[in-house]
Amino acid sequence: MKKIFLPIMAAALLVACGSNESKQTTEANDNSGNTESTSSTDVSDNPDYQKGLALVAKNDCLTCHKVDEKLIGPPYRDVADKYAGIPNRDSIVKHLADKIISGGTGVWGQVAMTPHPGISEPDAEAMVKYVLLLKK
Ligand code: HEC
Repeated sequence: MKKIFLPIMAAALLVACGSNESKQTTEANDNSGNTESTSSTDVSDNPDYQKGLALVAKNDCLTCHKVDEKLIGPPYRDVADKYAGIPNRDSIVKHLADKIISGGTGVWGQVAMTPHPGISEPDAEAMVKYVLLLKK
C-alpha cells in the first residue's frame, strides 16, 4: 500500500508546485516595473528623512505620535499637510523645533506636548524636516 501511495503523493506535489511556480513568476514580472518607477521618488531616500527618523525613533516621540494615526499627538502626516502650503519653510522649521523643545498646546487641541529641554536645536530641526517630508 505504502509503495503505491508515495509515488502518487510525490507526483501530486510536483504538479502543485509546478503550477504555483509559473503563476508566481508572472506576478513578479508584472510588479517589477512598478517598483522601479516609484523607488526613485521615494522620500525615504532623502538624507533629511533618514536623519530625522533616526532621531524621532531615539527620543520619546513615537509614544505620542504615529505617521498616519492620532495617538496623544496629531499624526505626523497631518502636521506635514498643515504646514505644506506655507512659503517660508525655514521659519516654520524653526518654530516647530522650538515647540518640540519648549512643549506647547492649542494648535491641535487642548492636549499639551511635553517639553524636551534635552534636545538640541539642530536635532529638533532635523526631526521637523523629517515630519514635513511626510506630506501627502
Ligand atoms: C506626551 C506626548 C508627546 C510627546 C512625547 C511628543 N509629542 Fe509632539 N505633540 C503632542 C501633542 C499633544 C501635540 C499637539 C500640540 C498642540 O495642539 O499645540 C504635538 C504636536 C507636535 C507637532 C506639531 C506642533 C504644531 O504646533 O503644529 C510636532 C512637529 C511634534 N509634535 C513633534 C514631536 C517630536 C519630534 C517629538 C519627539 C521629540 C514629540 N512631538 C513628542 C504630544 C507629544
